[in-house]
Parts: sequence; C-alpha cells; structure tokens
Amino acid sequence: MDSKFRIAPSILSADFARLGEEVRNVIAAGADWIHFDVMDNHYVPNLTVGPLVCEAIRPHVAAPIDVHLMVEPVDALVPAFAKAGANVISFHPEASRHVDRTLALIRDHGCKAGLVFNPATPLDYMDHVMDKLDLVLIMSVNPGFGGQAFIAQALAKLQAARARIDAWAQASGRTILLEVDGGVKVDNIAQIAAAGADTFVAGSAIFGARDYAATIAAMRREIERGLAQRTARQAERERELYSPGGA
Ligand code: DX5
Ligand code: ZN
Repeated sequence: MDSKFRIAPSILSADFARLGEEVRNVIAAGADWIHFDVMDNHYVPNLTVGPLVCEAIRPHVAAPIDVHLMVEPVDALVPAFAKAGANVISFHPEASRHVDRTLALIRDHGCKAGLVFNPATPLDYMDHVMDKLDLVLIMSVNPGFGGQAFIAQALAKLQAARARIDAWAQASGRTILLEVDGGVKVDNIAQIAAAGADTFVAGSAIFGARDYAATIAAMRREIERGLAQRTARQAERERELYSPGGA
C-alpha cells in the first residue's frame, strides 16, 4: 500500500454478469485496487451488492478490495465484509451513530479504515479521529450513481484534506491515504493529483473504455504530470518563503 499512487476501478460500471473476469482484466491492465461500491437504497437511492459478491470476486484477484459503504446503519456490515475478504472499508460519517467506534471496529477486523466525505460534508469529522484513520475519501459527486460529472469544488477540498494529512504525518509519522471518487477521467486526473489525491477511483472512465490498459496507462501518465506540478508549486512556495527578499 505504500507506492506513490493507486488507481482503483469501481466495479459499479463493470459488466456484473462477468464480474470475476472484469476484475481480473482491470488488474491485468495495470489497476492497483478494486473499488467495491455498496449501496442500500436507504442511505443512497441506488441498490447494488453485498458481502456475498465481495466473497465471490475475492479469489479472482490478489489486489486489495476497497469497500465503499454507502449504507446506514454501518456497523453490522463491517464484520461481514471483513470476512468476505475486504482490505479497506470506508463509510460516511453521517451514516454511523458512533464514528469513532465504527473506525475501531473496522480495524479490529483487520481492515484499513476510511471516512468518506460527501460534497457538502465538512472535513471536521477528521479532527478527533486522525489516529484511527488509514484513508480519507473525498466524494467529487453525490454518492449513488456512476457516470456523474466531477464537482470542481472537490479540488479545494482535496487541498484542505491534504494539508491536514501532511500536518498529521509530520506530527505522528503516520500516513493517511487521500482518495477521490466520482467523475475522475483521463482529462481531469492531473488536476486532481495536483490538488493532493493519491488514490483515484474511476468507474465509467475505465470500464466504459474499450481498452482498459491504454486508459489506465494514460491515467498514470497524467497523474505523474499532476504530481510534478504539485512538487514544482511546493518548491516555488518554499523559495518565496526563504528567499532574502521574501516576506
Ligand atoms: C458513486 C460511487 C463511485 C462511482 C464512480 O456513488 O461511489 O465509486 O462508481 O463512478 P464514475 O467514475 O463513473 O463517476
Ligand atoms: Zn465509490
């Protein structure tokens, strides 16, 4: 889990009739994680898949399965998904009565724990649980459906989350991954990487493409370009800060 960035195709846009083959194909095409969207027709209007389907794809890939729970309540499903082979389990703080307890529950079951922020959800939910977070997921669409347009405000939110995560890493020596989900495409992924994301969910952009490998390779090139922009911007800021003529 410690490479520079990860691409996580969302199964929501895969061919569900051939799901085993689809997940094998995207991993063979260069993807790093499988993003597994769980919707309950209650927390979100859509209804998808549960632990049985996670268990069914588990033998098909060695890659981490990144379970995104869009369900309410959350807790009963945590042990079920851990048992079904999930590696990362994320949930929306509004959907859990006791966020700290749910994060601890996920870790107690041997999985990495993540909190998901809807477009209008403040990052403040992070404040008192930094030590229990392995991942922060910024939604760049409202959850519920694939194929929606990227909400540009997510870029500023990614920058704000990146600043908090970096400050925490400096203070604690611990890394928290910063994932983005919704409307991620080859033509905006550089900008998203430049804003601070290191883990990229993409559903329709990958499973809707004819050539998975070419799409994932194009995404990797664009991410590298975005990360280089970010590094250059950081260096520029440091120069301004420390130059004799600077403030
Ligand atoms: C949306 C899901 C996403 C979705 C992304 O509620 O959480 O993971 O599959 O799909 P695209 O990449 O098509 O926006
Ligand atoms: Zn998702």
